[in-house]
Amino acid sequence: MSLITVNEDKCIKCGLCIKECPTFVLKMGQKGPEAISADSCIACGHCTAVCPKEAIDNIKSPLASQINSKDFPKLDAAEAEHFLRSRRSIRTYKEESVSKEELTKLVNIARLAPTGSNAQGVSFVAILDTKVVKEALEETIKWMETSQLKDRFKGLTNAYREFGVDGIFRGAPNLVLTTADKDFSRGRENSIFSLAYLELYAPSLGLGSCWAGLFEVCALLPDSPMLKLFNIPEGKRITGAVMVGYPKYSFNRLVDRNPLEVTFI
Ligand SMILES: Cc1cc2nc3c(=O)[nH]c(=O)nc-3n(C[C@H](O)[C@H](O)[C@H](O)COP(=O)(O)O)c2cc1C
Repeated sequence: MSLITVNEDKCIKCGLCIKECPTFVLKMGQKGPEAISADSCIACGHCTAVCPKEAIDNIKSPLASQINSKDFPKLDAAEAEHFLRSRRSIRTYKEESVSKEELTKLVNIARLAPTGSNAQGVSFVAILDTKVVKEALEETIKWMETSQLKDRFKGLTNAYREFGVDGIFRGAPNLVLTTADKDFSRGRENSIFSLAYLELYAPSLGLGSCWAGLFEVCALLPDSPMLKLFNIPEGKRITGAVMVGYPKYSFNRLVDRNPLEVTFI
């Protein structure tokens, strides 16, 4: 089967599919676009998405799997700024656990993040059971108490042992991990983009999240105890972690960062 099919009655030979192809897979033929090298196609979907006539289909990114962007409202600049700036790291959560359905919605957006060469390669492990998050907390603390960095973690580990304070997951009921093949060099960076999408989308579902960087210090190790705890398949590694739950408090103000540093040349 060929990579693309072109509906010759609909195609106006505008060439947009050819211009937008990132890997120069297409050329214009007598009857419309033709594939030069199917192997180079990275399944990004640009050719089908840009076509003004829905005249081209691509087996690696079928038209049927795409949705019309006109069905969605477009944010104006102020709405977009508010959307991006109102996401906050959440560190106080309600006890209520997030349902499988809601966590599925979250990771289903996370998987849409951009990745180099559209390689993707990120899988998700969503921890529904709060008891498992607590086990991960205990295991992380144990690891911290014996690691070479134990002095650095003393404040955290003592607070946990003496007062039961969860400085790792901040009481979040749920956790989302990313995993990738051990030998996939872009596993970590692709996971970061995915989890950034997840964090941005979470407030739209009434959820809050926080990057679990302290947990990652242990979880991302090649011999991490978390691989067994979360049944990570042989050949995969943990590449990222974000805690998730319903925020207990809301934030009334949008904070600033360091002053903008930009050079124009
Ligand atoms: C890679 C990374 C690791 C982080 N790790 C933690 C963490 O372990 N615990 C925590 O409370 N916050 C963690 N954070 C959240 C940052 O502290 C937070 O993003 C920063 O203070 C800015 O605040 P905001 O996210 O609310 O805008 C992490 C953030 C990133 C990007």
